[in-house]
Amino acid sequence: MSYKQVKLGILGGGQLGKMLIQAAADLNILCKVLDPDASAPCKSLTNEFVHGKLTDFQTVYDFGKDVEVLTIEIENVNTEAMEALQREGVKVFPKPEIIREIQDKRLQKQFFQKHNIPTADFILIDNQADLKNYIAFLPAVQKLGKEGYDGRGVQKLMNENDISKGFDAPSLIEKFVDFEKEISVIVARNENGEVRTFPVVELVFNPVYNLVDYLFAPANISEKAEQEANSIAKLIVEKWDFIGILAVEMFLTKKGDILVNEVAPRPHNSGHHTIEANYVSQYEQHLRAILNLPLGSTATILPAAMVNLLGEDGYTGNAKYEGLEEVIALEGCYVHLYGKAKTKPFRKMGHVTVIASKVADLQEKVDFIKERLRVVC
Ligand SMILES: Nc1ncnc2c1ncn2[C@@H]1O[C@H](COP(=O)(O)OP(=O)(O)OP(=O)(O)O)[C@@H](O)[C@H]1O
Ligand SMILES: [Mg+2]
Repeated sequence: MSYKQVKLGILGGGQLGKMLIQAAADLNILCKVLDPDASAPCKSLTNEFVHGKLTDFQTVYDFGKDVEVLTIEIENVNTEAMEALQREGVKVFPKPEIIREIQDKRLQKQFFQKHNIPTADFILIDNQADLKNYIAFLPAVQKLGKEGYDGRGVQKLMNENDISKGFDAPSLIEKFVDFEKEISVIVARNENGEVRTFPVVELVFNPVYNLVDYLFAPANISEKAEQEANSIAKLIVEKWDFIGILAVEMFLTKKGDILVNEVAPRPHNSGHHTIEANYVSQYEQHLRAILNLPLGSTATILPAAMVNLLGEDGYTGNAKYEGLEEVIALEGCYVHLYGKAKTKPFRKMGHVTVIASKVADLQEKVDFIKERLRVVC
């Protein structure tokens, strides 16, 4: 088989798209990006940029007509247009019908249930009034079916008094999981059916804003939990006949069981560190998967931590980065700024990966980065 230049369409022009383009450059892939923000992070890097709505049929359809392969870096896209393009011969990965199922957490959970993929028990809810019928099910977490992200669309309902905080929309309630750790596995599968998982990572969330503060890779978990997490991730991509990269967010319970929280059919925040810390990055792996190239080794080069650089609370305006020089001077420290002009509280503005041969050194560096590097205006 000979390899020739491919024109790749990417729906979404955020930081995930930007890092995907950086990997695409090495494989001489031509990129075309669609995003509703005229100054999206991908704008300055892509061969072609189209300003338009990702959820509009005609916009997505017109965008995709002249690409050979179409992919996503965000799930909230018009899947009907992707299907129309697929019928006309564009290779569309991940498959639109799977993206549609993942867009709706209710359908996602039903998929897990149908295929015996371990996940917390749940009940589908139509509206807020419905909640009072399920008081005996609490404590639970209510999740909007559609369009929740970065913890928006997720509400803890610990007891009857919390019901007034519940969402009045199609949603689900799922048993509150008293977890030991939140972990994630990134898995890739190509058209030949080759499957590879990245080592499990452990995520540390900020309890206030429900976003990943930082992560450690590989996770400090038992060999048994590592294997279990890997086989669950593999089972999901097999059952879905999934092509591309899939991030599987999971809970490791205090009893040592693993439950799937949710999946994302694209490169993921929990895989940024693979750029420096693994033989192949999640971005290149995704490209290899959708172009049906052999998948790369996911082995760890050095243990890593990744710190999300979030807009400082109380600052909204043109972004400035305080403490960058001190952080970039640290050994094994890699700063990634996404190039978003405006900062706002908790907006994902960049990340820092740090690698170290001694795992014990990582926490100290994470603390230093979190203390010194601030996005203000
Ligand atoms: N059943 C549960 N029990 C306990 N905590 C939960 C449960 N479900 C979710 N959470 C907490 O809420 C966080 C956000 O939930 P979830 O991942 O479903 O939402 P999201 O908004 O799609 O997330 P993101 O876009 O940040 O990945 C989880 O990472 C976890 O910390
Ligand atoms: Mg999540």
